[in-house]
Amino acid sequence: MTFGESGRVQSSMTSAETSFIVTGGAGFIGANLVAELMRRHPGAHIYVVDDFRTGSYANIVEACDRAGVGGFEGTVLSDSVGDLNWQPALLGIQPKAVFHLAAITDTLEFDEQKMLRANTEPFAEILESCIECEVPLVYASSAATYGSPEQRTPFGLELAGKPNNVYGFSKWLMDAEVFRFFKKRESAGEPLPHVVGLRYFNVYGPGEWRKGKMASMVWHLTNQVLDGKQPGLFNYGEHERDQIFVEDVVSCTLAGAEPGVKPGVYNLGSGQTTSFNQIVEAINEALGESVEPRYFEMPAEMIPTYQHYTCADMSKTKSGLNWAPGWSPMDAMIRYARQIATERKSSSAATNA
Ligand SMILES: NC(=O)c1ccc[n+]([C@@H]2O[C@H](COP(=O)([O-])OP(=O)(O)OC[C@H]3O[C@@H](n4cnc5c(N)ncnc54)[C@H](O)[C@@H]3O)[C@@H](O)[C@H]2O)c1
Repeated sequence: MTFGESGRVQSSMTSAETSFIVTGGAGFIGANLVAELMRRHPGAHIYVVDDFRTGSYANIVEACDRAGVGGFEGTVLSDSVGDLNWQPALLGIQPKAVFHLAAITDTLEFDEQKMLRANTEPFAEILESCIECEVPLVYASSAATYGSPEQRTPFGLELAGKPNNVYGFSKWLMDAEVFRFFKKRESAGEPLPHVVGLRYFNVYGPGEWRKGKMASMVWHLTNQVLDGKQPGLFNYGEHERDQIFVEDVVSCTLAGAEPGVKPGVYNLGSGQTTSFNQIVEAINEALGESVEPRYFEMPAEMIPTYQHYTCADMSKTKSGLNWAPGWSPMDAMIRYARQIATERKSSSAATNA
């Protein structure tokens, strides 16, 4: 690796070496993805592109440690994805895939211009540059693209398009860009490029705690129980969401880059709902507790835009990407809650030592 006159990194790799680009690679899911890439492709060169607005170097270090893959030896470009200086052609590499996960992930960020500038505006160019270089592109979309449909059965892909917040809108616009591109190709009778969008549902698992208030309910509720409190739920804990374990998210994201998959936008959930009460049940089972939830009223202004029910219809994901979830939500939550408890014990032992 060398630095050019501008101080920008220039790759000394030959294009024959295996490489990957992961945007948002210092975030929760991105760091887990980086570690799994290192496990599956020892010796591959991984480029992380991240502006560290919510990510941290420590997510990468910890994910590598959990995966037992040694230290990260790739390249980190600490820029905004919108700078676009990390495109394969500019780095002079032919990566095996680009995984585009960088985004503002705070769903309570209401600055619309900021959200669209960060999440949506660079996407058209990312798409075009991957297509031009014939590099598979897998990007993170979101269940937020569905908003709050009345429907109480798994969401088919066609139901999306009525997001409740600008975060969901920013992701919907990415999907719309892909649909537009595909339509153009199809009407010209050309084959579709290798582009896969994944609408992640609610993701939980190791490495999420730095997301703070945006960490999953499983993380927050487990910590409330470990703090000796009653886990707080909106009345009466019957909201149902599709919760998916991060190991499955990483596995499907990698599956999206495999040769032979059908390009398209897909759901990525467990395909099952878990009620908020069931999350507490899983935590109680994991920790050997029997704590009752503390119910409270949802603020009136939240009711119309809250996702009271989400569930991914995973049939197209199965047929298009040849992938199905490996974890049942309850089993994964039990395992994860135990892991949180163990980590807390060892970090308090280290503090007291
Ligand atoms: N965690 C979930 O439940 C969930 C659900 C649906 C979709 N997603 C999507 O998955 C992806 C990863 O989310 P996460 O949960 O790991 O969140 P995260 O906040 O931990 O990760 C996002 C990463 O992107 C980086 N980033 C943000 N804007 C950037 C920019 N403009 N340029 C460069 N880097 C930037 C952040 O610093 C962070 O490291 C995101 O695209 C998110 O929208 C996550």
